[in-house]
Amino acid sequence: MDEKEFSEIIALISQQTGIIPRESHRAGIMNFIEKRKKEISLNGLPYSAYLRLNKGEMNILLNAATVNETYFFREESQFSLLKDKIFPEFRAKLGSKPLRIWSAASSSGEEIYSLYLLAQSLSIKTECVASDINTAVLEKCAKGEYTPNSVKSVDGAKFQHLLAKYQKTDKSVVFPEEICNQIERRQINLSFVAESFPRNVNLIFIRNVFIYFTVEMRRQILKKIVDESLTDGGYLFVSMSELPALDSSVLPKNLEKVCDGKVFYFKKI
Ligand SMILES: C[S@@+](CC[C@H](N)C(=O)[O-])C[C@H]1O[C@@H](n2cnc3c(N)ncnc32)[C@H](O)[C@@H]1O
Repeated sequence: MDEKEFSEIIALISQQTGIIPRESHRAGIMNFIEKRKKEISLNGLPYSAYLRLNKGEMNILLNAATVNETYFFREESQFSLLKDKIFPEFRAKLGSKPLRIWSAASSSGEEIYSLYLLAQSLSIKTECVASDINTAVLEKCAKGEYTPNSVKSVDGAKFQHLLAKYQKTDKSVVFPEEICNQIERRQINLSFVAESFPRNVNLIFIRNVFIYFTVEMRRQILKKIVDESLTDGGYLFVSMSELPALDSSVLPKNLEKVCDGKVFYFKKI
């Protein structure tokens, strides 16, 4: 494939997802396309044309073009803060009402199951939504089966006792159906203006995805989340490594940055 056609495909991916692929990421996309071209019969048609003509192909390409790295209890310090402060605060505030949690850009679901298990351990009722643009990772979330790669030996170790009940001797994790059913899964494209986001959410985790978006897209997504999804007094967590990318130029006025020890997060005021 020549550079012009590849750039055209990258532009289509950016248009559909808001993602601006980096160099290493572009190499992965190129490899996938070359492999994919051998699987389908193009009969001389350029892949970019095939992509435009076949509705389902964009989904296949997007499923291969996103970066889906994730694991249980990632960024343990945030989970410690939830356990010691935020979940008890919600329990007192919500009474018998469920705590509504949304893991936006959830990937295969390790993040939402971590949040669910922590809430359960504190006897907090939840309504959990996991969303992603990638349908393959959402299917994995629905299955609730994870290899030992989803459990890291250092980060998250403090909370791994919550997984023990579901772990096999090789450290893989299999959740029973009744746990999987506690997680609603939705395909949501965060960059699509007309997309319908979950409503009345108390706690949103949207981590390790802003880095792939332009400044304007970050601003648009944060505004939409705060206007449509987050309740007053609700909290939003991003990855600590993304904080520099979310300065006052992209933050809505009613989203306040909060610092608690080493952990930063946001509160809707
Ligand atoms: C690196 S994973 C983050 C997973 C998890 N939040 C974590 O921090 O461990 C990034 C996820 O963002 C998703 N993503 C990328 N662009 C998206 C978009 N426009 N809308 C929704 N999800 C998107 C990818 O499919 C991928 O699963």
